[in-house]
Amino acid sequence: MKRDDHLRQTATEFGQQHLFQYWESLSDDQRSALLDDIEHIDFATLSKLLSEKVGETPPIDESKIDAPPVYPHRPSDDQLELYASAIKTGEMMLASGKVGAMVVAGGQGTRLGFDAPKGTFPISPIKSKTLFQLFAENILNLNNTFGCKIPWYVMTSSATDAPTRAFFEEYNNFGLDPGDVYFFEQGVMPAVDDHGKIILASPHAVALSPNGHGGSLLAMRDRGVLEDAKRRGVEIFSYFQVDNPLVSPADPLFIGLHANSESQMSSIAVPKADDLEKVGNFVSIDGRVQVIEYSDLPDSLAHAKNADGSRKLNAGSVAIHLINRSYVESLTGGGELSLPWHRARKKVEYYDAIASTTVQPDSPNATKFEMFIFDAIPLATKSIVLEQRREDCFSPVKNAEGVDSPATARRDMIRRAASWLESCGVDVLRNSKKEPQATIEISPLRAINVKQLSTSLQTKPKIKTNEELYLE
Ligand code: UD1
Repeated sequence: MKRDDHLRQTATEFGQQHLFQYWESLSDDQRSALLDDIEHIDFATLSKLLSEKVGETPPIDESKIDAPPVYPHRPSDDQLELYASAIKTGEMMLASGKVGAMVVAGGQGTRLGFDAPKGTFPISPIKSKTLFQLFAENILNLNNTFGCKIPWYVMTSSATDAPTRAFFEEYNNFGLDPGDVYFFEQGVMPAVDDHGKIILASPHAVALSPNGHGGSLLAMRDRGVLEDAKRRGVEIFSYFQVDNPLVSPADPLFIGLHANSESQMSSIAVPKADDLEKVGNFVSIDGRVQVIEYSDLPDSLAHAKNADGSRKLNAGSVAIHLINRSYVESLTGGGELSLPWHRARKKVEYYDAIASTTVQPDSPNATKFEMFIFDAIPLATKSIVLEQRREDCFSPVKNAEGVDSPATARRDMIRRAASWLESCGVDVLRNSKKEPQATIEISPLRAINVKQLSTSLQTKPKIKTNEELYLE
């Protein structure tokens, strides 16, 4: 059967034949573009989502929710040995090539108002290095430190794939071996209107969007990541989001605690900034670690306190995880991925046949479906959470202004650099608000922690007020 007949038949079977309503008026190229879009649709899953109303978040039984066990940032006296041995394990695993880095960079950065892949956003305070460059330099540093070649798996989406690849090429992969950078594109889901009909963005384009970062797991299987990792001997993926310039793409302590405790999927948490901070919340339900997204957390739980007045649910997710390759293989082995779908009401542009134009709606007109990576946590036989200090590992770039913006990320990069220098005995002048009075940037090629910085400082720099100090 011809491709268009076959796809028309499938669409009709699932009540979506309107996708072909403009077929007769389309050029050959437009027909082919439309067929490409339709080919990407998983009609069976969509139909299940529509008929069973799955994707609606089940109500939360508050009485079952506890704070999860968390490894503290600083070990207690009886944990000193455990942490020391974890660091050794983590370093060994890095040195023996068992760890791969993975960034999810398929999001469209709408809130930031930046019309290119977010990883290409210039963020460092002096050199304006992009997020991608900072991650690459961190990986280069780890490669030098541990004598390894960490493969870097970069997940893109249809919107970010071509520009991301072009950007890496333009900058020669920032010094990484091109054979160690592996791009893979995530899957898509169509947006549907209130009658369950797939929306057309134009007569020859379906309103498709990325299927959420949970889709990374299927894409890892379908796009050869699991195979590539197996061939290289990679056992653990160190997963992070493209929006966080303070992330460490692979942390020995975290890796060692994860491996030594035989966890399948582990997470980093930071103490929440306030009760309603817009981050996922780590909880324990029936003894299983789980993340409840801020938007799903009832206010009463967000504000709940312990007897001593401290916040009951204080472990915020920074979306940094370690995920075993064997775990991804088992989750995706049966063909279908058993992560739940989340539905969200969104504004989605649609084709208006009467006006013969694509319309941007003013209010939400469609439902989009996404899977979230953290929903894989409760499916693991073992999962641990390690707390880190926010100032060390988390300052995301999400909004154009205000909280979690380029301004706050740059401020936090300067703060971290200043505090590293102070730990090395360098005087940093601070103003009345305790902010460093100079702009400081430390290249990840030089140091990714205090220990490296201290070894690299032959003399202690004298920092002048308002100076720009770049440590190369
Ligand atoms: C996310 C987490 C939140 C966490 C916070 C930390 C969700 C639903 N929530 O919030 O629990 O506390 O980060 O910063 O994720 N992405 C893809 N493909 C997609 C969708 C997203 O690659 O289909 C990537 C984005 O490029 C980005 C990351 O996933 O790197 C986060 O996506 P975003 O939608 O911005 O999540 P947040 O609401 O910021």
